[in-house]
Amino acid sequence: MSSLFALLAVLGTASAAVVPSTGVNTLLVTSTAPSLDLVECLKTSYYGTYGGSASSQEHIYLPSEECLISGSALDGLTAGSLIPLNFEREAGRIVWIGQAGIDPSLAQESLQNTWDGISTKSAESIMLESDAQKVLTTSTKSSGSIQLLYQSPNSLVLHVPHAYLPTIDTLLPSHLVPVALPSNPLPALFEGWESVPARFAIHLANVTKHLRFDPQIDKIVSDGIELNQIRRDVRYLTGEAPSGIESRHSFTPGAIKAAHWIKEKVEATGANCTLRQFLDGFSPNVICHYPSSLNSTEHVILSAHYDSRGSFGSTRAPGGDDDGSGTGHLLGVAHAIGSQGVRFEKQVVLAFFAGEEQGLLGSHAYAEHLHKKNTTILLQVQADMLAYHAPGEPLQIGLPESIHLPEASYLIGNLSQIYSPELVVGKTAACCSDHQSFISYGFPATQVFERNGWIADPFYHNSGDLSQREGYDFEQVVSIAKVTLSSLLTIAGYSLGESV
Ligand SMILES: *[C@@H]1O[C@H](CO)[C@@H](O)[C@H](O)[C@H]1NC(C)=O
Ligand SMILES: *[C@@H]1O[C@H](CO)[C@@H](O)[C@H](O)[C@H]1NC(C)=O
Ligand SMILES: *[C@@H]1O[C@H](CO)[C@@H](O)[C@H](O)[C@H]1NC(C)=O
Ligand SMILES: *[C@@H]1O[C@H](CO)[C@@H](O)[C@H](O)[C@H]1NC(C)=O
Ligand SMILES: *[C@@H]1O[C@H](CO)[C@@H](O)[C@H](O)[C@H]1NC(C)=O
Ligand SMILES: [Zn+2]
Repeated sequence: MSSLFALLAVLGTASAAVVPSTGVNTLLVTSTAPSLDLVECLKTSYYGTYGGSASSQEHIYLPSEECLISGSALDGLTAGSLIPLNFEREAGRIVWIGQAGIDPSLAQESLQNTWDGISTKSAESIMLESDAQKVLTTSTKSSGSIQLLYQSPNSLVLHVPHAYLPTIDTLLPSHLVPVALPSNPLPALFEGWESVPARFAIHLANVTKHLRFDPQIDKIVSDGIELNQIRRDVRYLTGEAPSGIESRHSFTPGAIKAAHWIKEKVEATGANCTLRQFLDGFSPNVICHYPSSLNSTEHVILSAHYDSRGSFGSTRAPGGDDDGSGTGHLLGVAHAIGSQGVRFEKQVVLAFFAGEEQGLLGSHAYAEHLHKKNTTILLQVQADMLAYHAPGEPLQIGLPESIHLPEASYLIGNLSQIYSPELVVGKTAACCSDHQSFISYGFPATQVFERNGWIADPFYHNSGDLSQREGYDFEQVVSIAKVTLSSLLTIAGYSLGESV
């Protein structure tokens, strides 16, 4: 509290010189979550909660100077930092950079070294894949450089000019991941400021309470999910099978090719897919929709990200595990829906996102769109990295430690015990995948991950992330796909018709 006041005093003296005309001019990073107790001008300047470990979560607000000076603004806060902003926000995006969830006991470079690396690399504009280069040179004109706004033991907050957004991932060491702040404050729509409205949690808890083995669901998931098909599809996406795809980085021709191929594959199972552009130059989201047999307006969404990240300086980014495994698993689910003749009672969406590696950009745009349309979502599940477990470990499924709706995770854990009892259910601090975008807009969301505990994949964010290597286990992908498909069948309801 006292340090906040001290910082506020500093702000008071510094602000006269730096206040831009945009109105929003202070970054506030605090451990205090949004609640009804905060003053109105803080509640309406909330930009999200960041960090995969519950003990080190950071809540970010961008209050105006008037808000902070208005006396009681900081009364409800326990600790935090205030940083005056001295740039035009429209020139770029604010990006939070944090721990991906690799075992911290493994030697990792300090955040100070990371920042030194980012500023050096970005100043030199060491860039990457040819198409990204084009975007950079056409939009660099008045872009300025990446600025460090805030640093804590676990995170950095940067201002990233638009020209650098497409390649921010390539400036980071593999154990750090970016999450872009939204362009506008998150909606202050939740009664009591629960992150997700209570009725969704109550619905999922009730479903979980009444859950029992359904032989028809068991038959659909067992007959429908096919290992050989998932393996074939993952290897097409990685380029291990002849596809011509070298990389699925969001700015490569490989990503565009993958998007069109995914659309075609999923449409063959009875869905309608749309390529949705979300930011200039990024490959599109592929949004596939199965209609409701009962004209329901309620949705259930299962997703993965098809874009990938490679080693620094390499143009190869096969993304076999991250997130070829989640993408292949979604294709496996689509195949099962088609081959088993599943008709859903509610609307079901299979979403393949891009721009995940640059800060959850594709999923954020889609979640914002669904929020603007007042869409009702009963459950959203992101599948990011499903294939790897350390050699000798059992098959497992990891559910998030933070940034999820616990009732959604309980349901998935219980479904796993029923339909894939071979999986050991546990928790992970693996951080920052696309379900976070849905949580930000108050939707009931969670994630499935390959491992309980830390990320252990030695080829994480590495150009060697292929499917043909020790520890990459298609059996585990199949088992997790049975769980996510059972969640669609359970929450969306279904009947069986002709297969397609
Ligand atoms: C809870 O689920 C049961 C069984 O599906 C259903 O009959 C009941 O109406 C549900 N209750 C609520 C409050 O949703
Ligand atoms: C897909 O969209 C087209 C055109 O909007 C429509 O005619 C068709 O019925 C849709 N198919 C499905 C499976 O929703
Ligand atoms: C769904 O809506 C269409 C058109 O409004 C109608 O023809 C159809 O009977 C409805 N189906 C059900 C199951 O209500
Ligand atoms: C949004 O949908 C809910 C129910 O689904 C409805 O009660 C509410 O009025 C809708 N709000 C708007 C702004 O359309
Ligand atoms: C099953 O659900 C209950 C809550 O209904 C939860 O306490 C329990 O942890 C869940 N089991 C698993 C394995 O997730
Ligand atoms: Zn990923």
